[in-house]
Amino acid sequence: MNINSIDISLPDSLEINENLKDFVLQQQLYRAAIKEIKTKLEILDEEFQVKYDHNPIHHMEYRLKSPKSIAEKMERKGLELSADSIRKNLTDIAGVRVICNYLTDINRIATLLLRQDDISLIRKNDYISNPKANGYRSLHLIVLVPIFLAERTESVPVEIQIRTIAMDFWASLEHQLKYKSHSDISEGLRNRLKSCADSITNLDEEMQLIYKEINSGICLDE
Ligand code: GTP
Ligand code: MG
Repeated sequence: MNINSIDISLPDSLEINENLKDFVLQQQLYRAAIKEIKTKLEILDEEFQVKYDHNPIHHMEYRLKSPKSIAEKMERKGLELSADSIRKNLTDIAGVRVICNYLTDINRIATLLLRQDDISLIRKNDYISNPKANGYRSLHLIVLVPIFLAERTESVPVEIQIRTIAMDFWASLEHQLKYKSHSDISEGLRNRLKSCADSITNLDEEMQLIYKEINSGICLDE
């Protein structure tokens, strides 16, 4: 190894290490943001359980986007792969999926979360009022949550998908089917999937009505 190659390789490896360190620290921030949102939602759910004997949340799922998916998305968007650029451009590294029991629980949970002083909404996609053409339904929120570190406070984005059990059932299977079929799904199959989504919408609405009739004496804020 000659002097020149040492000169060149040292700054390079330092830069890679710096990037890696930044990236690991960043992943820790996103994990912390997931924990904050998880706790906030659990507290709301428990309050409802105690007050109204009703749990709006059936269960929650969490995911931290893998380094591989992050790199693929950055490349797809033609963006530089640095901790800084990832931070600025991706808002779905931290993901929380909230699976609710009934339709009205979705807006209830979203409203109560967004009302909290430390949460700010940066994007809302209401695919329930406006479902996607394929039939996909869910309420998507991108929020910023503050993470208090030793020396500073960071506002970290979290993507929250809120849906009913029925919407989740359809979205999970549709995702698997899309993933499994290596080419585009035919129009006939797309129509059948859309018709399943429509049946599920009817089911959600009917279950909501049944719930309402059975619980007509209990006062939940709509
Ligand atoms: P991305 O670049 O994919 O994150 O798209 P976007 O920023 O426009 O976000 P969008 O709100 O459309 O979707 C984000 C996430 O919602 C996806 O990563 C999926 O988890 C879910 N999603 C959106 N559309 C569909 C769909 O048609 N089917 C299923 N199964 N999931 C969907
Ligand atoms: Mg995404």
